[in-house]
Amino acid sequence: MVVSVNRRRFLTATASATAVCASGVSFAQSAPKPLPVPRLIDASSPENSTVDLALQAAVHDFGTGAQSETFGIGQNYLGPVVRVHSGNVVPFRISNGIDEATTLHWHGLHIPGDVDGGPHQEIAPGDVWRPEVPINQPASTNWFHAHTHGRTARQTYKGMAGIMLVEDENSLAADLPKTYGVDDFTLVLQDKSFDAAGRLAYEMSGETLENGFQGESLVVNGALAPVFQGVPKGLVRLRLLNACNARFLKVSLNDNQPFHVIASDGGFLAATETVSEISMSPGERYEILVDMAQLEALDLLVAFSSGDGGGNFLSWLFGGSSRKIALTLHQDASRSGVLAAIPHRLANLDPADARGVRKRRSFALNMAEGGELAALAANWGNVCGGAGMGINGRPMNMNHINFSARLGEAEIWKITSGEQVHPFHIHGCSFRILRQEGSAPPAYSSGWKDMVAVGEGVSEVLVRFDHPATEEFPYMYHCHILEHEDCGMMGQFTTVA
Ligand code: C2O
Ligand code: CU
Ligand code: CU
Repeated sequence: MVVSVNRRRFLTATASATAVCASGVSFAQSAPKPLPVPRLIDASSPENSTVDLALQAAVHDFGTGAQSETFGIGQNYLGPVVRVHSGNVVPFRISNGIDEATTLHWHGLHIPGDVDGGPHQEIAPGDVWRPEVPINQPASTNWFHAHTHGRTARQTYKGMAGIMLVEDENSLAADLPKTYGVDDFTLVLQDKSFDAAGRLAYEMSGETLENGFQGESLVVNGALAPVFQGVPKGLVRLRLLNACNARFLKVSLNDNQPFHVIASDGGFLAATETVSEISMSPGERYEILVDMAQLEALDLLVAFSSGDGGGNFLSWLFGGSSRKIALTLHQDASRSGVLAAIPHRLANLDPADARGVRKRRSFALNMAEGGELAALAANWGNVCGGAGMGINGRPMNMNHINFSARLGEAEIWKITSGEQVHPFHIHGCSFRILRQEGSAPPAYSSGWKDMVAVGEGVSEVLVRFDHPATEEFPYMYHCHILEHEDCGMMGQFTTVA
């Protein structure tokens, strides 16, 4: 769509009143919805009762005025926020109330393969899965989502996802906002496509396979441009998750106000990074602080950046669409919040040190050309089958273990791809990025991560696995563009002593 600058300004200014599809179709949007604040399940005490997660089919209005068919976890769209404490074992009871097999994977948790919830742990319709999940890692914002081989993209898009907060002594003692739903919010950012009637749409095509599914609208916790009334006068903590199937997002504030990044995927940064924009690949999390002490209102802005722009990191970092209002926060001057200064030091985190690491592995992400992908899309069953996409020339094969890593031993993984940028993810660990597309990563991604966006340049991560993963329940490594994952850009490995 070609838009003039004025038209674009107009769209930005009225983003909360009307949503416009790239196709030119527009649907009436009701008045901005309040920000959905999912139910908090506090499972952080040592003697937790079982956490019940009921996977269900439902309908949900994203703010288009129409009811869309969705999936939810104990609610109509997405799931609750589950809070756990490091050092505890948390019993879950996951019941599959939808009429297809699914799984629930704990993205970001350092846990053994047999409770990881990957594609080997399908829950049949009507069945129940009861993993006892041992939490042993620094405080961090993690998530859970469907991971059914060949169906991850559709199931997650329809809403099979939620947030898991890990807390520890350090995070609970820190002078940071931590009252959930008051000054500490979880924000699930997703792009969606709606038809002319305002119903959720998803279409499989060659292009969908090639770029991953890309919607035109952005929803936060399942609502279009929602508003939150009444944050206290003080610091507010926003825990951001890019849960898009394929969209790379650029996040900023109105008037390019600076904000403060305090944590990445795997926990606190060594020190606060003050920036005016961050890039988020699908699967990534960042925690940011915004200062609402002097502001009546604040807009969180999001721009799409497709990741396919000419094959280099800079073009997805700086290219892309205009910014849209994702969320507006209004301050309530009568409520006083955390008025502490922005913390400087956050965690004891040495720079990544790869000296002495001997074990190296290389991963080249590969994908077929346009015409072949169109043919695969036309015959889309659950998986691409054949050789649509793969890693090191092999598509994911549920019956083939690609390699085995040594428990407790550091390794350097080098990951490259073709022209397109792919968000690479590894199960069962957090890693440090040594190089991203040939350079040092931005300071805000130099802490603990489980996602790294890779392209043609050399990207390397320093990784170590501390938990067992067997042939029966191996760990996955894959592209987090969910259509690529479903199409075979994934592999699996075990860890052995
Ligand atoms: Cu977020 Cu293997 O997944
Ligand atoms: Cu994962
Ligand atoms: Cu990919």
